Amino acid sequence: MVVDKPIPLCAPQFQGNEWKYVKECLDTGWVSSVGAYVEQFERQIARRLRAQHAIATASGTSALHVALLVAGVRPDDEVLVSDLTFIAPANAIRYAGAHPVFIDIEREYWQMDPERVTEFLEKRCLWRDGALFNRITGRRIRAILPVHILGHPVRMRPILELARKYELRVIEDATEGLGAEYKQQPLGSLADIGCLSFNGNKLITTGGGGMIVTDRDDWANRARYLTTQAKDDGIEYIHGEIGYNYRLTNVQAAIGVAQLEMLDCYVASKRSIAQTYENAFQSFRGIYPMREALWARSVYWMYTVSVSAAEYGISARELIRSFGDAAIQTRPLWQPLHLSPAHSGTQVVGGNVALELWHSALSLPCSVGLTTVEQQRVIDLIGSRCRSSERAPLTPVVEFSRKAKANVG
Ligand SMILES: Cc1ncc(COP(=O)(O)O)c(C=O)c1O
Repeated sequence: MVVDKPIPLCAPQFQGNEWKYVKECLDTGWVSSVGAYVEQFERQIARRLRAQHAIATASGTSALHVALLVAGVRPDDEVLVSDLTFIAPANAIRYAGAHPVFIDIEREYWQMDPERVTEFLEKRCLWRDGALFNRITGRRIRAILPVHILGHPVRMRPILELARKYELRVIEDATEGLGAEYKQQPLGSLADIGCLSFNGNKLITTGGGGMIVTDRDDWANRARYLTTQAKDDGIEYIHGEIGYNYRLTNVQAAIGVAQLEMLDCYVASKRSIAQTYENAFQSFRGIYPMREALWARSVYWMYTVSVSAAEYGISARELIRSFGDAAIQTRPLWQPLHLSPAHSGTQVVGGNVALELWHSALSLPCSVGLTTVEQQRVIDLIGSRCRSSERAPLTPVVEFSRKAKANVG
């Protein structure tokens, strides 16, 4: 019996200069958090994002934690964050002693819904003594933390306008969107401060790592200070406050520099994989691929479809089991945060769209190195479980329809 090789969901690729640069670190002894590769990686990320400063960190989560502190988020403040995301940004808000308010996603691109942000700020908050307060909890609203999920941008303009109107900070979680653009501007550089992650499944990886990106000199200095144990004097070891050991190592940065050299090539590969899936799924009833807005350039970091069980014949969860039997790794999206036991009791604005997508979403293999044959195996399996190959009617009753609404950015 011929057993097909397993297909991973999203595996990293190391075919550039990784070995060469890491060897240089080992040969020279520069392996820890100081070294030329750290500086080079920071410089290159800043240039790529057209930002003044980039500060390398141990992870995307630590980048978010420090970005929140630097942006002035204080204990007992509230921060608006996407309801449908990996949990890290909500946890980072709690590390800062603040509280998240979960904002539902919009139906078209599955990102934080600016209309829900407006609804919350205008109807559920109160402007008093030059600051905005939550009418229910009485806490001060300090910031908005939009998360660009799956490689597609959040509709940023209305969020930035609301932030200006209500004097809120915006911290961008671009950990899943390196290389993507919102109106020709790189994600991570649209707000006051942005964060990236280089963990193993991200577009480029350093094994683990992150980056804080900002144009503000004072914030960059403070981020560097806090991520290096708040050291005032490196010789006498005087520390001005409680800081963190959140630095990236030179070995990790060496991998990062090599990976960054490949970024454009990886983005092209992700987009081509997405196009092939999209073409194939045109003829599968009940399979609704993630979409790209006219104002966006997505990197399709994690290629995801919404499965309408009623039309397709089986649910996304059942389909995941079929994939498992065929040694093909797929997965659902994250549990909406308003349901997470880790954040129970947290206020949510909406939440039903995130819930619906959680039930129907299925992420498919989309490694940069996915071969044509492997991708065809994935497509064939979806085709084989499909009730009918009849083309899906483009009707607005379908929850996650292909049909575009007003394409306003
Ligand atoms: C949206 C989002 N934010 C934050 C993180 C945290 O990054 P890290 O794992 O590097 O801490 C991740 C992924 O891991 C993520 O997907």
